[in-house]
Amino acid sequence: MISNTMQQALNRQLNNELYSAYLYLSMSSYAGSLGLKGFANWFMVQYQEETVHAMKFYNYINSRGEHVELAPIAGPPTEFSTALDMFEQTLKHEQFITSSINDLIDLALREKDHASHIFLQWFVTEQVEEEENDRDIIGKLKLIGDNGQGLLMLDAELGARVFTPPPAGGTP
Ligand code: FEO
Repeated sequence: MISNTMQQALNRQLNNELYSAYLYLSMSSYAGSLGLKGFANWFMVQYQEETVHAMKFYNYINSRGEHVELAPIAGPPTEFSTALDMFEQTLKHEQFITSSINDLIDLALREKDHASHIFLQWFVTEQVEEEENDRDIIGKLKLIGDNGQGLLMLDAELGARVFTPPPAGGTP
């Protein structure tokens, strides 16, 4: 049993995670259209990770005896100026996600909802990692500047990223 307020807040975050998936799918396609297959791969893996995040909320809401209320997913941007632009938008979006997770935790604490508080801890750690990854890549892109060879080397590095699916049968 969770409060109606918490259920709605968790539902909103499920939608935020699905929007994140949409955003990175759009970026993956755009990077691919520029011939940056490694960047496209990185964003495709990010898309897959976001669907896992969304399913964590989906499963958690159900595990508390409630049901999800799926809402329309906003359309993400479809044009980006540069690879750096994509990663700066990614970091900005992840900072928004971090603040929304923090708001959820504030709510869980106000409501003394200890189960939700524990559930949300995984996302706190994940957001630190996501923002760090984005900042690292932004730093490299700034160093690369207009150097095409450097961009291709980073493209090769990002092409090596692999999606690790959550364990079968377990909560993702
Ligand atoms: Fe699900 Fe990238 O936060």
